[in-house]
This record gives sequence, C-alpha cells and structure tokens, in this order.
Amino acid sequence: MAQKPFHDLSFDDFDEVDNPRPEFSEFDDVVERAISRRGFLSGIVTVGAATFLTGTALGTGTVQAANRFGFDPVKANSLDDITVPQGFNWHVAMKWGDELFSDSIALDEESRGDASSQEKAFGDNNDGMSLFSKDGRNIFVVNNEYVNRSIIFGNRETGLPETDDDVRKGMMGHGVTVAEIAQTNGKWRIVRGSEFNRRITPATRVEISGPAAGHDLMKTSADATGTVALGTWNNCGNGETPWGTYLACEENFNGYFSASNDGFEQTADQKRYGLKNKDWGYAWAQVDDRFDLSKEPNEPHRAGYVVEIDPFDPGSVPKKRTALGRFKHENAEVVLASNGQVIVYMGDDERGEFIYRFVSKGKFSVAGDNADLLDEGTLYAAKFNDDQTGEWLPLTPETTGMGSLAEICIRTRVAGSAVGATTMDRPEWVASNPNKAEVYCALTNNKNRGIKANAGGDATPASGPNPRPANKYGQIVRWVPKDGDHASDFFTWDLFVLAGNPAVHGSTDPNAGSRNVTTANMFNSPDGISFDDNGFLWIQTDGKYSNEGAFEGQGNNQMLVGDTETGQIERFLVGPKECEVTGCTWSADRRTMFVGIQHPGEKGDSSWPDGGKSIPKSAVIAIQRDDGGLMG
Ligand code: FEO
Ligand code: CA
Ligand code: CA
Ligand code: CA
Repeated sequence: MAQKPFHDLSFDDFDEVDNPRPEFSEFDDVVERAISRRGFLSGIVTVGAATFLTGTALGTGTVQAANRFGFDPVKANSLDDITVPQGFNWHVAMKWGDELFSDSIALDEESRGDASSQEKAFGDNNDGMSLFSKDGRNIFVVNNEYVNRSIIFGNRETGLPETDDDVRKGMMGHGVTVAEIAQTNGKWRIVRGSEFNRRITPATRVEISGPAAGHDLMKTSADATGTVALGTWNNCGNGETPWGTYLACEENFNGYFSASNDGFEQTADQKRYGLKNKDWGYAWAQVDDRFDLSKEPNEPHRAGYVVEIDPFDPGSVPKKRTALGRFKHENAEVVLASNGQVIVYMGDDERGEFIYRFVSKGKFSVAGDNADLLDEGTLYAAKFNDDQTGEWLPLTPETTGMGSLAEICIRTRVAGSAVGATTMDRPEWVASNPNKAEVYCALTNNKNRGIKANAGGDATPASGPNPRPANKYGQIVRWVPKDGDHASDFFTWDLFVLAGNPAVHGSTDPNAGSRNVTTANMFNSPDGISFDDNGFLWIQTDGKYSNEGAFEGQGNNQMLVGDTETGQIERFLVGPKECEVTGCTWSADRRTMFVGIQHPGEKGDSSWPDGGKSIPKSAVIAIQRDDGGLMG
C-alpha cells in the first residue's frame, strides 16, 4: 500500500507513526476487525435525549456536556466500603442472616447459626435479583448462589463443615430468597413475617418439566418417575418473564457431588460437566446419598437448569424448565420476538463453552395462558464467524445425531459441540437493549483461550469475538438479529468493549483494551450486565482485585455504566474488599437501584457492611439520589 502524504494522516495514523506496531500479526488484525465496526470508538460523545440520572423528581436536573450519565465518575480504590458518586447515597436493604419469618432467629456471629436458623433466614452470596411489584406490594426475589465456607463455617478451625448440621446449614444457605420489602423513611427493609416470604433451598420440592421430564437419565432411587427433584442450588444470574415469573439459573451444580467408591472414573459426560470424585468442600454426600455419584449417577442430570418461580404464590412448586438446556447457566434474558414467540438468551459460564438461544413454539399473549411457554420450543447454539456475521444452529436429533430431544436437553454441551458452535470466553450475563433489537453478552475472561481445548475437546482458537489468547481481562460482545427479529437465525456482531489495562500495556497491545477503555475507567472481568429503561448498560465485575501487576490501578470489583450509542463507559460504584458486584434491579418508581455485593472478605480481609469485629456479609444495597431523582 502506498504511503499516505504526511499532511493527510488522521490522528490514529499519526499515533501509528509515533508508536509503530512491533510487527503485523494476525492477532492484531482480528482484534482490529472485531472492534472497529462501529463509529463510537472514535470517542465522539454527543448529548442525547436520554433522561437517566439527569431528571429529578421535578425534572430539574442538569445534563453535563460530554457526559450523558449525569454523575462524576468515581476513582478505582481498595477501600472496605461502597463508593458512589457525589449526590448519591446507599443503604443495606438485606443481608445474609436477615430474619424472614416471625420465628426466625437473629444471626449469631459466634456460631454463625445452624441449619434451622439458616433455613429461615436470608441466604448467603446473593446474586441475580428481580423486584416484582403489584397492588402496592413489592416482592424481592434473589438467588443465594453458594456459601462462603471460611465464613459460614468460621466457627470451625478447619473453616469447613464438620457435623451433619454444619453440612445442612451450608445447604440452607443456598437457593433462592423471596421476601416482601417496604420502605420506611426512604430505606428499604424486609417485611418480616410477610405471607410472601419464602426460602427455596436444596430441599424444596421442585417439578421437572419439559422434554427431559421422565427420561431414563432423570430417574433416581428416590424418584422413579424422573419428574420430581429436590431443590435448586448454585443459582447465579436470573431472568424475568413477561408473565411475571422469576427465573433462577443453576450454574456450578457439579461442585456438590462426590463419589464414594475408590476406583471412580469419570465418564465422558461427567468430565464435560466437571463431575469428579471430590466436591468443592460442601460435603453434601455426607448427609444425602443423592450427592454420591457412586450411588446416584443420574442425580446430576437433574441439575443445571433454569428454574421458574412464581413470586406471588408462596405455595407454588418451582419448575425446572429442561427445554432451556442443561449447562452452567449464568442468566436467562427473555425477550419477545415481533411475532410473540418467547426468546431466551443464555450463556454457559465455562471456558470454551457456548451461548444459547431458546425459541418457544407457542406465543405470548397478554390475556392467554403463558404458564408453560418455556416447556416447548427449539434450543440453538451460537456460531460467530470471523467476518462478523453469525448464525444460530438448531439443536435437534437431526443436527446433533443424538437420540431424542430429551437427551439434547440433558447433554446440551455435547449437542452444542456436535453442531460446531463457537467456543466462547466464559459467557456470563446476556442483556437485551430495551430500545432496539441488540443483545450483549459479557465474556468474562479465559486463561485457556488459544491454549487448551474445552472439556469436550473443541478447539479454542483466538479469533472472532474471543480474539486474545489467555484472555485476562474479558470483553463484551453484542449482536444484532437480522431484520431486527430475535427469532431470525442470523445476526451480525461486534465487540462493545475489550477490557484491558492501558496503564501497564502499550497502546498497540490488545491487552490495553479497546479505545473506550482508559486509565480512568479500566476494569477487568465483566460479568453482570443489565440495561436500564433508558438503554444504558450497567456493567458489574467479578475479577481480580489485587490492584497489582496486570491489574494495577483497577482496585476492587466495581460497577460501571456504558452508553451503547457512543461507547462511553464510566465507573459508578466501587465495592468493598474481596467482593464481587453482581445482580441489579430497580424499584417500580425507578428511584432506587438495588445492587448485589457478593462475598465481601472471601479471603478474610473485610468486615463490610457492619464494620468493627463483625464478620463480613453478602448484602443487597439500595442506591438513591440525594435529591430523590430517577436511577434509570
Ligand atoms: Fe456465578 Fe458465572 O458467575
Ligand atoms: Ca456471574
Ligand atoms: Ca464471574
Ligand atoms: Ca461470584
């Protein structure tokens, strides 16, 4: 290519002359192509009509030019506290151990409670959450993903469950909490004793529905029908349906199983799903044989699903919707296609696993019976091409060579491999833009990218939306369905952001991140993503908080907000030490934003939120504007 005349060089061309790339590589080219499609990376920021955080109760807020978000971003820090911008405040709405029922017992910080106290209290490690409001009642539903062993069993020297009651206490810290909440003097709290309050735990009766119900692989000693399971656990992100139900998504279900026979050898399927002879320190097989793979090899086939819960009926039986597939579900983003079909976008959070889409057979209708729409439809896995086009590949007996739809719903990862879906950098939350047909997925990081195949043997080349080998920082991919139709099998894609650290990597190194990442807004490992009503994308992180080396200057885990039209990203919140920020929802009047703070002090260095000598506790905080304005 002929050299351009010097006076014609753009800013970027000058930059290239001043900081020449060491050498051309295919890797650079892949990154460039993935992020350069949209104009926003040129840094042009315009003031638009969006009202987020700019209007007050009286609509008197001001918009600052070049910052549509209307707040002064906060700096990264490593404090054991919540940091929000000036003009905002926060309070704890609920936390681990909060009493739900009239006979609940306050958390004892010495013993850290027992199985019976934990069963009647807010669970540990809150994650995905939704608030359902009807007839003036506000029902908060939140996943309790797992328990922090060193904290909940911190009364034991080993930091592990020792007695059977310890094991059961840990179990009861898992599941889902349903709690009515109400405001007193502006502060949200649980309404103790409300008839809506409920704990769904690993012991709650749950119905198995959809194609896999009753299949031989679902049958166990306790349930010869293969249609009734006990409980749900390791629920990570969530979803909400247009018919007012909550979706809890079972993620790392494998870590609770172990095998008692010495000669245990993993089957190929057990390997694919990470089922081993040892569990992750929960010891559930000690009190319940169904967690012993040697005794109940089919029990793990009954976990790894999306579970639908009716928040307004405390007596309702939750349903495992097997049509949505079995994998390490992150969240479930539900949108309606223009023809009324229900679309559910889902990530499988494991290195080199896939992104999925479910398309219902039936159609949503406001006046109709939508209760079982998630039981029948087609599951697809995503293929992303290097030319920024993509395709949804249907998972059927014909395309996969598998025996039945039931089997596809149970061995879904194997089905995705069979059709040649694209191995991704750990797909976390998916979020759909409320203003246009455009969908985002956080790809949190993947140290195996370009280095190691996934557990099914599928290659993981650094290419397409996963362009960096040994990806440390993560990225957010977005796709636009063809003709704006979520039911279409085709899409185009690009990267909204490639996270990185421009302070420690040179500007031409892809590890510096895309151009909308600066030393002022940098972060690593995007995980929770949620759109507000104005179409701004909230980004929560679950990454390295060492603030050292490759992560120097990034501080604790945090929450940022992105403008998907301009590419601008600003930091709104920094969490306390050793936490993850995850889960996000709004009050009906949009004047409170609820945000989850998970596992503060997971390595022992925090006393948030109670301070002093208290033990750290996962909590949901409520964030409001000092002037009572809108929060999105
Ligand atoms: Fe529970 Fe993928 O995070
Ligand atoms: Ca997550
Ligand atoms: Ca994560
Ligand atoms: Ca977590």
